[in-house]
Amino acid sequence: MTGKPRLWITRRLSDATLERAARDYDATINWEDRTWSADEIVQMSRDFDAILPCHSEIFNADVAARLSDRVKIIANHSVGVDHCDLPALKARGIVVTNTPDVLSDATAELALLLMLGAARRAIEGDRLVREGRWDSWSPAFMVGKQVSGARLGIIGMGRVGRAMARNARGLGMEIHYHNRRRLPPEQEQGAIFHESLDTLLPVSDFLSLHCPATPETEGLMNAARIAQLPEGAVLVNTARGALVDEEALLEAIRSGHLAAAGLDCFRTEPGGNPAFAAHDNIFMLPHIGSATRRTRDAMGFRALDNLDAFFAGREPKDRL
Ligand code: DGY
Repeated sequence: MTGKPRLWITRRLSDATLERAARDYDATINWEDRTWSADEIVQMSRDFDAILPCHSEIFNADVAARLSDRVKIIANHSVGVDHCDLPALKARGIVVTNTPDVLSDATAELALLLMLGAARRAIEGDRLVREGRWDSWSPAFMVGKQVSGARLGIIGMGRVGRAMARNARGLGMEIHYHNRRRLPPEQEQGAIFHESLDTLLPVSDFLSLHCPATPETEGLMNAARIAQLPEGAVLVNTARGALVDEEALLEAIRSGHLAAAGLDCFRTEPGGNPAFAAHDNIFMLPHIGSATRRTRDAMGFRALDNLDAFFAGREPKDRL
């Protein structure tokens, strides 16, 4: 290849990331931050050696099959890669990377916010005060669910799950978890391992999801599993919307089996689930788990590190 590699940055990334990308690559940047259809992605791919996308760009089997031969690497600006059909991209000889580690703390912070906000009725309280409807007080008023001393179940004890466990330990919660493999004691930090969801769910006063969306975890929290949670449990999801059966969640909120939910991820994004809006005990945010300035820079730099390694002939650190 003569000259700098041609790089397509599909969304508007942090200023520091774009500055570095423009210095080191022949970069085309989506300054308007528009989204792209499958056909547009395929068409754009003809002009680039590398693509730096976010989870908002879909590289399913159809797109993978139609991508230009010119594209050698897709360096994702995300840890989740459920928007990429990895076997299909691999079959095309395209290298795929992600950005693990760097967003764990930011995402776990948001999970904590959702857990606390859902438990202590943050939306309902904020609305009362904001709308000038706060006209009385009594000991029975806006009573929520206490987090300290409660049991937190974590599904997926990877980097984000462990950061969430650390946060929750600071609040005096008892940590239980399910993971494909039991962690070594220095990572467990006293958390109680459950080989099966059948024993984890009944002890989870709060349940936080931190596993990837895969064909195996699709609809993981369905009606039967939600029913296994204790009466009045709180469900938190900062991972992916596909993990939760949203109809089952709604039904459990309506019946009171779930006291509340805190959600940063939805089956339909952007947009979310309009049926959730009728319930103030569903605390919702628009997929902003990793949206802090420091983490956005770190994600952008990690994606560029992977590109730099690839074009220098080295193995990218985060190759999938
Ligand atoms: C991720 O990195 O997977 C976050 O959801 C943001 O894309």
